Amino acid sequence: MIGVAAETMATTELLPAGDFTTLPELPAEVFTAPLQRPPHVGEDWLEPTQRDYGADEHAIWDDLYARQMDVLPGRAASAFLAGTQKLALGRGGVPEFARLSKELGALTGWSIVPVPMLIPDHVFFWHLANRRFPAGNFIRTRETFDYIEEPDVFHDVFGHVPMLADRVYADYMQAYGRAGWKAMRYNRLKALGALYWYTVEFGLIMEGDKLRAYGAGILSGPAEAVFAIEAQSPNRIFLNVDRVMRTDYVIDDLQPTYFVIESLDDLYHQTVDRDFDRLYRSLNAGFTYANTAVIDIDNVLHRGSQEYFLRGGRASSANPI
Ligand SMILES: [Fe+2]
Repeated sequence: MIGVAAETMATTELLPAGDFTTLPELPAEVFTAPLQRPPHVGEDWLEPTQRDYGADEHAIWDDLYARQMDVLPGRAASAFLAGTQKLALGRGGVPEFARLSKELGALTGWSIVPVPMLIPDHVFFWHLANRRFPAGNFIRTRETFDYIEEPDVFHDVFGHVPMLADRVYADYMQAYGRAGWKAMRYNRLKALGALYWYTVEFGLIMEGDKLRAYGAGILSGPAEAVFAIEAQSPNRIFLNVDRVMRTDYVIDDLQPTYFVIESLDDLYHQTVDRDFDRLYRSLNAGFTYANTAVIDIDNVLHRGSQEYFLRGGRASSANPI
């Protein structure tokens, strides 16, 4: 009984005040990545204003936008393409966050807020729980046009924001932010990170009998949009949240496995209706499945040849087929 009482007490202490209006205190026993907060930002990690971009930087946005819009019709989810239109992301130059927030706010109540760099998990979750999407303030250069490691304003705004114009997806992202606080309580952030990775960043969706992408990591780069939808190499497996949260992921190459949802409602209910307390208690600290694995319980849409990865992937300039 002492154990139960102690856990109940910890739960009460660690869960933020119901409305998430202020940033909850992060308990000392919770592990998060140590990030050095720049002196000019406060506890919320928000930049005072979006930066002013030069003409050359606006031109980089326009070129990235044009390149993606060549590739995405027939590959991007219809909700994503509708979002780019509703928010007119191609009206020229890096979108102004204030204008975008007003328009997105009218659709789903979300806003876009500028941050200097990757921000700590608990702050990120808190913003999501308040329907604020933190977006990188900087834009890549011509030298890093094809590949950047840290998400910039193009990845964050072009990749993520159109889906936030969809009501169901908008609710999913807020619920994810709230779930983040629970994951921290169990020190299972890596597992929740895998769910983000395989849905928000690299998720695929069935639209009738057509496969489409809704993940921002796929939609903000030209190579993966083609690979994820058409290549023979990767596995495509229907989403099972328990299984995905036990699955490792790579961050510096195309994905060996994509998880597919039947609809945005499917994603929302698989996640929001789940007993995460029970799930977190059952998870090991590390991952159970390799990112190439196909396991007995999987509902497999396409079993990949893994040829791209067997040939060495990006490091050996293998063909993404
Ligand atoms: Fe992202």
